[in-house]
Amino acid sequence: MNSILDNRPALAQQIAEVAEVAGYLWQKGWAERNGGNITINITDIVDDEIRHLPAIGNKIPIGRTFPLLKSSYFFCKGTNKRMRDLARKPMEHGSIIRISDDGASYAIIADQPVKPTSEIASHLSMHNYLISKGSNYKAALHTHPIDLIAMTHNDAFLAKDVLSNLLWSMIPETRAFCPRGLGIVPYSLPSSFELADATIRELEEYDVVMWEKHGVCAVGENIMEAFDMIDTLSKSAQIYLTAKSMGFEPDGMSAAQMNELKIAFNLPK
Ligand code: 13P
Ligand code: ZN
Repeated sequence: MNSILDNRPALAQQIAEVAEVAGYLWQKGWAERNGGNITINITDIVDDEIRHLPAIGNKIPIGRTFPLLKSSYFFCKGTNKRMRDLARKPMEHGSIIRISDDGASYAIIADQPVKPTSEIASHLSMHNYLISKGSNYKAALHTHPIDLIAMTHNDAFLAKDVLSNLLWSMIPETRAFCPRGLGIVPYSLPSSFELADATIRELEEYDVVMWEKHGVCAVGENIMEAFDMIDTLSKSAQIYLTAKSMGFEPDGMSAAQMNELKIAFNLPK
């Protein structure tokens, strides 16, 4: 079967990276059943032929108008589709959509009529927000890491920057490679605009945010960067939990050590 990826190496490369990350999410145990979703803003790499592709099926209202997303293009994991399947056959378990020229609806244009993720409200809100800030970030990733989600079941970890500081202090990598820390979005109904709005409020300050008792969401230049930040935070959470299970509270790096890292790596916070 023909694919929109045929003879389009730049697009094919982006989708191959999505598939690679989808495989990691499954291997990590973060992607039970259809858990998690990925979207990539591919507008910069679409050509005229893609722009003229007919819609597959009807226009689907977004439920809100996103002026900055007018006529833009996204790869989206399909709703109810499994990450482990996306890893093997990304264009059968995801699709490419075109936002309408009024920014209020979208149509699927390739390869197959796979309906985008139920978290499209949050994903499109994040992409719209990133464009409004002039960001070069193109990828949004939502997944369900066991360790990080477990930590959101304790009120003490939900106060501002408690988790950021705790996880940063576990290993230097987390401080250096997740330099804006971890925001907290209070529990909201999955797929709601309430969840979307709370998420983009946190993106003002963070590239990675927890969805309380649900999952984590990260934005990055590309899908690998978004994955790496979550992976690093999860590693810190594992170290914390391992220490606790050995019966002690981990010391964490000292304030002086943290400050030394901030200076050495010229970190933003
Ligand atoms: P989708 O299968 O619709 O992407 O939903 C998975 C999920 O994690 C919802 O939060
Ligand atoms: Zn989810």
